[in-house]
Amino acid sequence: MDLSPQDFDIIRDYIQRVSGIAFSREKVYLIQQRLEPLVQSTGCKDFSELSRKLVHDDSVRLRNEVILSITTNETSFFRDAHPFEAFRTVILPDLAARIRRRKAAFPGGGSPAKAYILSTGASTGQEPYSIAMLIHELIAGGPAPDIAATDFNILATDISKKVLQKAMAGEYAKSELDRGLSKERQAAYFTPSGARWRLIDPIRNMVRWHQLNIVEPYAIFGIKCDVIFCRNMMIYFDDATKRRVFDTLFRFLTDDGYLVLGAMENTYMLTDKFRSVRMGETLVYRKPRTG
Ligand SMILES: C[S@@+](CC[C@H](N)C(=O)[O-])C[C@H]1O[C@@H](n2cnc3c(N)ncnc32)[C@H](O)[C@@H]1O
Repeated sequence: MDLSPQDFDIIRDYIQRVSGIAFSREKVYLIQQRLEPLVQSTGCKDFSELSRKLVHDDSVRLRNEVILSITTNETSFFRDAHPFEAFRTVILPDLAARIRRRKAAFPGGGSPAKAYILSTGASTGQEPYSIAMLIHELIAGGPAPDIAATDFNILATDISKKVLQKAMAGEYAKSELDRGLSKERQAAYFTPSGARWRLIDPIRNMVRWHQLNIVEPYAIFGIKCDVIFCRNMMIYFDDATKRRVFDTLFRFLTDDGYLVLGAMENTYMLTDKFRSVRMGETLVYRKPRTG
């Protein structure tokens, strides 16, 4: 199906406005390929009609359908391994220490005594569930007897409702388990469910879900996070959007909080607000202490 340069511009601008995802002219084929099914499902006869629809129909429903068509939801358990090693060996012990300090300061416990972790652009859930497994292993392994799973609050967000539904269900194909999970972790954390594998409730219940477009200015919660995983999402954004998102993430973080980016992502030429710290093979970004 043909896509004229004028319609490409309209569609590209729409996508950039609603999601921050930037496409150069060379990506015409990608938009063609990803949006052709949407032309049909919205009852349009061609890309011209779809682009007219985008100009006139500002509904959330259409917006979500476009975003769903163009986003890449590629993910896997313990993706790239080394950021999770940094989390396990450096960040998690620090979180345990923070929880102890907070419990001492707030003997009543509750929200102020918890550690908060955000996984944004969490896709189908493998990233936040990998984090939950490491927390579970810290507690089950015994080195932190005074720390419980309920001391951690893991919030996972994504712009796409469809991936969030799959993430919340916590059911995966065997091929998805084989991407990143050892035989031991597969056996410990999954039970068969028909042709699929279901994550056990103690891990599934550690993660809360929220649909959120990180580009929207309203994307500010009342909480501050000790750790933010924002991996393999910003790679699709233009520089102006990346800067805005870095500002948002900076505001979300506690002093000394950790920001974990994807392997192809960094703050170079975009922001100098964060301090980079090498942890093994991973470069982790920290929000400097203000006080
Ligand atoms: C490639 S996946 C990365 C998943 C996971 N973080 C990882 O590294 O394996 C990117 C995710 O970002 C989500 N995404 C794209 N634009 C977004 C936005 N503006 N706000 C929130 N999520 C977005 C997509 O729906 C997709 O699920």
